[in-house]
Amino acid sequence: MSKFILAIDQGTTSSRAILFNHEGHIHGLAQQEYPQIFPEPGWVEHDATAIWNSQLAVAQQVLKEHDLKAADIAALGITNQRETTVIWDRKTGIPIANAIVWQDRRTAAYCDQLRADGKTELFQHKTGLILDSYFSGTKVKWLLDNIPGARAKAERGELAFGTIDSWLIYKLSGAHLTDSSNASRTLMFNIHTQAWDEELLTILGIPPSLLPEVVTSSGVVGHTHAELFGAPIAIAGIAGDQHAATFGQACHQPGMAKNTYGTGCFMLLNTGAQAIRSQNNLLTTIGWALEAEGARHTSYMLEGSVFMGGAIVQWLRDELGIIHRSADVEALATSVPDNGGVVFVPAFSGLGAPYWDSYARGTILGMTRGSNKAHIARAALESIAYQNVDLLDAMQKDAQLALQELRVDGGASRNDLLMQFQADILNVPVVRPVVTETTALGAAYLAGLAVGYWSSQQEITAQWKMDKRFEPGMSADEREHRLHTWHRAVERAQAWES
Ligand code: G3P
Repeated sequence: MSKFILAIDQGTTSSRAILFNHEGHIHGLAQQEYPQIFPEPGWVEHDATAIWNSQLAVAQQVLKEHDLKAADIAALGITNQRETTVIWDRKTGIPIANAIVWQDRRTAAYCDQLRADGKTELFQHKTGLILDSYFSGTKVKWLLDNIPGARAKAERGELAFGTIDSWLIYKLSGAHLTDSSNASRTLMFNIHTQAWDEELLTILGIPPSLLPEVVTSSGVVGHTHAELFGAPIAIAGIAGDQHAATFGQACHQPGMAKNTYGTGCFMLLNTGAQAIRSQNNLLTTIGWALEAEGARHTSYMLEGSVFMGGAIVQWLRDELGIIHRSADVEALATSVPDNGGVVFVPAFSGLGAPYWDSYARGTILGMTRGSNKAHIARAALESIAYQNVDLLDAMQKDAQLALQELRVDGGASRNDLLMQFQADILNVPVVRPVVTETTALGAAYLAGLAVGYWSSQQEITAQWKMDKRFEPGMSADEREHRLHTWHRAVERAQAWES
């Protein structure tokens, strides 16, 4: 048997390649950051070629560093930042423009128009999504309308659209496809029939010829070009990063939920075969679709997405310059006993769930003459946790359940101060696993299941191990008081940009 599964995790700020062994432990990891492009306020772009180059480089590097060949890899799993939109020329393979990143707000006015035209209900019913510039559909339209010649080429069938998974698979193997979890983030995919939706495509003005074939999340869909790794490797797992993290956290049963502290924060609750329609501004999305005994089994999720999570710490480091390394934030924030009355609303890219306000902007409130950088750092960390309270409240109402515990992962989940505050303010136990790289692990599991490296979901579930459990310890009065202050601050940040 081949020794390892290779997971590639193409995130918003870095490309990573991680080798997992049969126990689900990390054997090797390589990572590269790549440039963020901010051409105008509210716009965020990536160079898709830089993404591919960095992703290929780290995959090759991790094999080399561990003296492995393609034959040592049982399969490749792909997971990715979702919604980010690439269009490339089918003949040359060259992108027609920079990728428009999920955080980009340039299509907010068009979303307003769709809402004013009464389309909210239709899109929510078919796609499970909110009409927001976050998702791919309006970004595709923007590229077709604004890149010279793009629409005519698209109509002649000369262009291909993909989220980052599609783009990487195309570069790795030449195939043009995506999986159901990524397709369910585009505003163009009907999550109930699991097909691209003609009515929605017509409204958005997107020719169907642009779209990739949609496959299940676990299954061999192709092989990498031989020259990339010396011999072909089977591509056997694909899922959007939050969906993969839910799989990697072994939240396989309905009622289980995880929260990932990556660039943003993404809380997903497994609702099983039932697609629950949110009444509280959450998203309904496909977690994964698996093929078993000739039938497709889809696990649906309710998702709460907030746009600024760990990225707030990056902002403290890179833009404000009050810490040198991200890890320094915990020491700075604990150097003061509390936030000193400072409240931080990190609406840098507007507000996601449950507010969906593209025009909200970042705000720091409650500063006095004695406020200092430690108070700001503390308020910044607390803001990550507060946003998740709003998500969990909405989720519990939609699913009509009281969550028993929340599994956490992602970079900022290693911050004990934040995790304890999260448990306190949620009033729900927060549980951190030993392996917090659950996004890549989920992609590895999906790929490994497809090729028999792991035999079943039960085998995977048995590998999940707890590192630390944070019990809530805040009084109800204090929690209520703090949340009241937070919501007052959110009101101030809303509808700022006009
Ligand atoms: O929806 C956006 C999300 O997939 C980005 O994830 O991990 O890059 O913050 P991450």
